[in-house]
Amino acid sequence: MTTALKINDLSAAVDGKQILDGLSLEVPYGEVHAIMGPNGSGKSTLCHVLTGKPGYKVTGSASLNGDDLFELSVDERSRAGLLQSFQYPTEVAGVRLRDFLLEAADERGLGPDDAMARIEEQAVKFDMGRFLDRALNDDLSGGEKKRSEIYQLAVLGPRVALLDEIDSGLDIDAVKQVAKAVEGMRSPDLAVVMITHYSRILRYLTPDRIHVMIDGRIVDSGGHELAEELEDGGYDAVRRRLGIEKAPEDGPQRKPADFFTDTPFDV
Ligand SMILES: Nc1ncnc2c1ncn2[C@@H]1O[C@H](COP(=O)(O)OP(=O)(O)OP(=O)(O)O)[C@@H](O)[C@H]1O
Ligand SMILES: [Mg+2]
Repeated sequence: MTTALKINDLSAAVDGKQILDGLSLEVPYGEVHAIMGPNGSGKSTLCHVLTGKPGYKVTGSASLNGDDLFELSVDERSRAGLLQSFQYPTEVAGVRLRDFLLEAADERGLGPDDAMARIEEQAVKFDMGRFLDRALNDDLSGGEKKRSEIYQLAVLGPRVALLDEIDSGLDIDAVKQVAKAVEGMRSPDLAVVMITHYSRILRYLTPDRIHVMIDGRIVDSGGHELAEELEDGGYDAVRRRLGIEKAPEDGPQRKPADFFTDTPFDV
């Protein structure tokens, strides 16, 4: 079977800043892969570049089900089955979740009867029935918003789902719920890429593979032992083991005193 998502030597720069730097990754159908990486390592940028956000200078290749993603427009990528859930889901007052989904399903060529059936069926599975006639994300708790994101993906039936920080800002019960929702999405026709900062969600779901992303590339891949190493020693432990130097911070390296030219004391 063709690999769901295949990324080879992907680099991306924006405004002259190199963010992705030779990233390669393969996610087969039926699998859930987790990507863990420090702030600013390029995880969200990876999602943006794959879904087609403009403004990046991109080299390398990425394919979905064998089709070259970079040959497709943003709409075509979505219709080909690439969907992303957002790090910060937006509230849309006045648009009911049900109507939003019907519209989105229509865009993707799903007829209204099929769409309604999927909306109802998945609402039971993800316990989302009571949110269907409320405005999209309006007044939902953080955990409910993330669960709603996963529910929406399940209704729209992607082939590759990119879940950006699906567990950030959630209390422990919500993390469990979201983990259960991700497990509930598992299917032989779907590949899931789950970006997370915390190994705690990995206590409640078992990804098939964990990848560590540092400085815009995947530097190591493995099983649960990687998450444990990160929990114990942070990214510095992985850097030390792999001999990766810490990149210098951006911007001019100025002493605090340089910002306060009238300071009476030496800092
Ligand atoms: N338009 C831009 N111009 C300049 N730098 C940018 C731009 N967009 C992103 N960056 C930088 O690229 C780096 C990667 O950002 P990105 O949001 O992909 O990181 P991330 O791994 O998702 O981080 P986090 O874990 O905090 O969500 C950051 O240093 C960010 O400041
Ligand atoms: Mg991010």
